[in-house]
Amino acid sequence: GRVWTTISSLTDELKNQTVLIRGRAQTIRAVGKKMAFLTVREKGYTVQCVLTVAPDHVSAQMVKYATAISKESFVDIEGAVTVPPEAIKGASQQVEIQVRKIHCVNRAAPVLPINVEDAARSDVEIEKALEAGEQLVRVNQDTRLNYRILDMRTPANQGIFRLECQVLNLFRQFLLNEDFIEIQTPKLIAGSSEGGAAVFKLEYKKQPACLAQSPQLHKQMAICGDFGRVFLVGPVFRAEDSYTHRHLCEFVGLDVEMEIKEHYSEVMDIVDRLFVEMFDKLNERCKKELEAIGKQYPFQPLKYLRNTLRLTFEEGVQMLKDAGVEVDPLGDLNTESERILGKLVLEKYGTEFYILYRYPLAVRPFYTMPCPDNEAYSNSFDEIISGAQRVHVPELLESRAKECGIDVKTISTYIDSFRYGAPLHGGFGVGLERVVMLFCALDNVRKTSLFPRDPRRLEP
Ligand code: 4AD
Repeated sequence: GRVWTTISSLTDELKNQTVLIRGRAQTIRAVGKKMAFLTVREKGYTVQCVLTVAPDHVSAQMVKYATAISKESFVDIEGAVTVPPEAIKGASQQVEIQVRKIHCVNRAAPVLPINVEDAARSDVEIEKALEAGEQLVRVNQDTRLNYRILDMRTPANQGIFRLECQVLNLFRQFLLNEDFIEIQTPKLIAGSSEGGAAVFKLEYKKQPACLAQSPQLHKQMAICGDFGRVFLVGPVFRAEDSYTHRHLCEFVGLDVEMEIKEHYSEVMDIVDRLFVEMFDKLNERCKKELEAIGKQYPFQPLKYLRNTLRLTFEEGVQMLKDAGVEVDPLGDLNTESERILGKLVLEKYGTEFYILYRYPLAVRPFYTMPCPDNEAYSNSFDEIISGAQRVHVPELLESRAKECGIDVKTISTYIDSFRYGAPLHGGFGVGLERVVMLFCALDNVRKTSLFPRDPRRLEP
């Protein structure tokens, strides 16, 4: 077979060598009838390819053929690597290919709904281009999502989803090393698992059912079944009513549940070590991805501490009060007060990643353990990652469920699981899309979901 070179590996070390590449024709520009420039892209990396009519290898017909290729078509190009004296604008690789052979493998439609090159520009670049009088179409979020497979081709999106894959990989590796086992739980269940009303209802063989709002009940039951430490990765369904920048109707849940010996701080210790290690390794392993993302969506690296900051909910409320923000000390923080608290914490402690613990019981799900010393509070924590110690006493669990207005019939097998001797336990859950959003300081969770599902979107 022929030897193929990837565009990302084209460097000046290959100077004067003949290479064979396959990529998409991102831009095609003719200069008279004797010259043409093609920018060819493969997985977010681009190289400039030059056709110059020359007696032995490039004919005028070849130049004509090349300039008739539609954008985003696949082309095979063979040619010699050269290093131009000046920097190449509009291509990631700083070498050129002097084309000897070109073949269009598969053509894209002549008119595309999104120009990938335009979709890859940052806001600042767009402003500059418009000022310079360039013709360019601003690609809005809905158009991007409608034609996601085109939008996905930008270097930033290539980076985001490759980084997301690493988040999953690091999550699994860390937990497997800590003696957790990965389990699977059903997504078709009888009722709400979080106690909220936001469930997708469906009919399950004439019986009312819903899509799992979380693996909460089953991951706890696996702990009752002596697995000791479990985790899982899977879809989570929320029939959200609110259309916000951080809520999806389906997201990927990263869930952990574990036995504890004495205190739910053991769960927070896992959160702490897991995420510090994850952030460290993302910075280490995903340099190229982070650079590509930052070019389109400029951001500062996430600020986090070696030991994750832990603040009590009361301390958080006090910080807000001191800053003139009134909040209900036994209520939940709304998005705005969360945002302000994030800013205050960053100013005071220099971190964007922290844990707020000892939440008011009233705002936590029914399965959350009340604080033994004060029942107005709970053994729980939140802030991007939410977790808690769980109630392992069946009578208390049943009464808490009732107090929270849950139809206990729909969770009777769950409650029964605690009647046969249940260990002290706790756990946490976080949305994959939210982790990537935080790490890259992206402004919308739709940017980190390949095919987002939100209150207005079920396609593509
Ligand atoms: O805070 P939530 O609802 O907690 C649970 O589901 C618990 N069972 C977790 C536990 O083990 N105690 O959701 C968990 C996480 C949130 O912290 C957030 O990161 C993410 O899931 N999340 C969402 N992500 C995207 N869209 C939504 N609508 C989300 N709702 C929650």
